[in-house]
Amino acid sequence: MAPSATDALRARARPLAALRHRTLARHRGVRDTAEARAWTLDAVAAALALPHVRLRVLGTATAPRAFALQGLVREGWHGRSYVSALGDADPDDAEAVAWLGRALAELALHRSGEYLLDLDVAYRAALPALASVGVGVDSVVLVGEPREALERLVAHRDPPPDLRHLGLQLGRLRRPHLGAAVALRRRVFAAEPQWAWFGAWPEHLARIEAAWAEACEDRASLLYAIHAGDQLVGVCHASIQEDTPWWGRKAGMDLVFDPSIQGRGVIWTVYRVLLERLTRRGVAAFVGGTAQPAVMRLAALMGRWPRSLNLRSQPSLPLAHFQSHLPGILAG
Ligand SMILES: CC(C)(COP(=O)(O)OP(=O)(O)OC[C@H]1O[C@@H](n2cnc3c(N)ncnc32)[C@H](O)[C@@H]1OP(=O)(O)O)[C@@H](O)C(=O)NCCC(=O)NCCS
Repeated sequence: MAPSATDALRARARPLAALRHRTLARHRGVRDTAEARAWTLDAVAAALALPHVRLRVLGTATAPRAFALQGLVREGWHGRSYVSALGDADPDDAEAVAWLGRALAELALHRSGEYLLDLDVAYRAALPALASVGVGVDSVVLVGEPREALERLVAHRDPPPDLRHLGLQLGRLRRPHLGAAVALRRRVFAAEPQWAWFGAWPEHLARIEAAWAEACEDRASLLYAIHAGDQLVGVCHASIQEDTPWWGRKAGMDLVFDPSIQGRGVIWTVYRVLLERLTRRGVAAFVGGTAQPAVMRLAALMGRWPRSLNLRSQPSLPLAHFQSHLPGILAG
C-alpha cells in the first residue's frame, strides 16, 4: 500500500526532528522519552504541512547537519495569522549553526505580517544574521523547578505569605470580577506592549477570558485576584498542564498588576504563593517567556535557566536589554 501524505511527511520530518530533539534533550529537565520524540516528530511534520512552506537543508535529506523552515499559521495561539519559523543544527557544529542563522535570515525575507521564531539558546550565534534582516529577541523562555525556586526565593527574601503588609487582599478570582480582570489585562498591555505585544488584542483577550472563566469554576485552579478595597488591581494565574511530552507536569504563569501596585514588591509574595502550590502539586517545571526586568531578576535568583529565545520582526527591545538583566544569556 502506498504511504499516505502524512506518512510521507513524517518520513521527511524524521531526520529533521532527530536533530531538533538532540538539542532539546540537552536541556536540564527535558525528558528524553519515546513520547517526547514522537511529539517532536509530529511538530516538525505539522510545520512541513503549513501553507507556503519553505525548507532549507544543510547536508542531505537523510543526514542533515542543519535545517531551517517557515510556513504560514492561519490562526495562531494569539488568534491571528503569522509566519512561523523553526530551525535546528548540531550545536557542536559551529559551521552548521552559522549556516542556520543565514538560512533562517534568508527565509525571513519572504515574510509578510507577523514573523515568529522560537530559537534554542544553543543557537545564539545565529542572532547577528537574523538581526541583519530585522528579526530580534522579543522574550526569553525560562524554565524553573518549583521546589528549588521556592527554596531559593525563601532563602533570599522570605516574602510574606500574603499581601496584608501592603494593604492588599489576595484571594481566588471570582466570576463577578472576571470582567474587571480582563479589562485590567487589556489596559496594562495596551499601555506597555513591549511586555506582550499581543496582550491587548481582542482575539487574545477572548481566549484569556474563556480560560479564566473556566478556572473560576474549577476549585483546584490557581487563579487569584489582588484587591485594594473593592478595586481589582492584579491577577495572577498558574495554569498546570498534565503530562506534557518534554516536561511532564508543567505550569505556566501569568501575572498582571495595575500600575498603582507595581514596583512595591508584590511579585515576591505572588511567586511564593504560586510556587508553594505548584510544589504541592508535584509540578516538575514552570516555563514561560518574558522580557520583564522584575521577572528576569527573580528568575536569576530562583535558579531558572533559559531554554529558547522568542524572536520576531521589529522587536520592541534591544538585545542589550536581555543581556543586562540575564548576564550570560548570550554566552555559550
Ligand atoms: C512585571 C510585574 C509582574 C512585576 O511585579 P512587581 O511587583 O511590580 O515587581 P517590582 O517592580 O516590585 O520588582 C521586583 C524586583 O525586581 C526588581 N526590578 C524591577 N525592575 C527592575 C529593573 N528594571 N532592573 C532591575 N531590577 C528590577 C526590583 O528592584 C525588585 O527587587 P527588590 O524588591 O529587591 O527591589 C508587574 O510590574 C506587572 O504586572 N507589569 C505589567 C504586566 C507584565 O509585564 N507582566 C509580566 C509579563 S511576563
